[in-house]
Amino acid sequence: MAFRRIVYTLADSPRVTGWISERGMRWGFARRFIAGESFAEATAAVRELLASGLRVTLDYLGEAVTDEAAARAATDEYCAILERIAASGLAASISLKPTQLGLAIAPQLARANIRRVAQQALRFDNFVRVDMEDSSTTQATLDVYRSLLPECPNLGAVVQAYLYRTEADVRALNALGARLRLCKGAYREPAEVAFQDKAAIDANYLKLAELLLREGTYPAFATHDDRIIDQIIDTVEREGIPRDAFEFQMLYGVRREYQRQIARSGYRIRIYVPFGRQWCPYFMRRIAERPANALFVLRALTGD
Ligand code: FDA
Repeated sequence: MAFRRIVYTLADSPRVTGWISERGMRWGFARRFIAGESFAEATAAVRELLASGLRVTLDYLGEAVTDEAAARAATDEYCAILERIAASGLAASISLKPTQLGLAIAPQLARANIRRVAQQALRFDNFVRVDMEDSSTTQATLDVYRSLLPECPNLGAVVQAYLYRTEADVRALNALGARLRLCKGAYREPAEVAFQDKAAIDANYLKLAELLLREGTYPAFATHDDRIIDQIIDTVEREGIPRDAFEFQMLYGVRREYQRQIARSGYRIRIYVPFGRQWCPYFMRRIAERPANALFVLRALTGD
């Protein structure tokens, strides 16, 4: 947790993030977690994953947009990406961040933009996952999601096991037939709203996973945690839940061999593939998650 705090503090420093943004792609150390800065680069990574039996969701990176024109530009880009996915015949859904589409400016703006992307995805029979960001955005994100669900059944949402509120959210969303991705949660949250301790977060994750397997609609279990994945598989096998009733999800570049092992064992697994020029905040969250990820970067920097 001390390590995490240090990385979050560094991530707040424009000098540090400026230095990283300038060099990460050129020097290669960001490429472990980011598929590239352009759609063409991401496409190469996607093809490789698909060929290994993995599914894909593409994330055009960006967040915390503060002006309307930038939110509109990100929306246009997502609509174009959906068209390019269809034209290239790639089987990839998309994931987007509500603040990239204007949530921090006005929830109504994000709603209109997400609706535009979801409608475009409907035209191509594709699916759009609305990622979950920090807890200051949770209520607004779920309000926008709920209001769009009746006309956009191809929208899914994300819930975070570290938040105390999530069990109630999952119960309410299950009742609407919402397609949910369950993750642990990647942001710095205070003890008033979130479990701080890994054991408590993991226990809540498992409890929510059971709830989703029992009452949810095609849930996605996003984690690299083999202990959690093993317990989900135990439940699924014990209860005779079909393997096509849910999927696992992992991040591009994290536990690559394990990803393939899960696919080979006959379970569905989708890889979250981020690309784009605004990769630094996403990259810093990956470093914060795990000291070994920082060591990997240090090794790349020192040429070891
Ligand atoms: P955790 O970090 O606790 O790791 C658990 C265990 O997994 C480790 O002890 C180790 O055994 C193993 N492990 C993890 N990384 C490893 C590595 N590199 N090498 C070897 N072993 C490793 N968050 C959010 O707030 N909003 C969102 O919308 C999303 N979306 C999302 C989509 C997808 C597809 C994924 C996989 C994750 C997210 N997240 C997210 C991020 C999520 O909240 C969380 O921060 C990360 O997944 C890390 O947590 P883990 O569940 O992997 O467990």
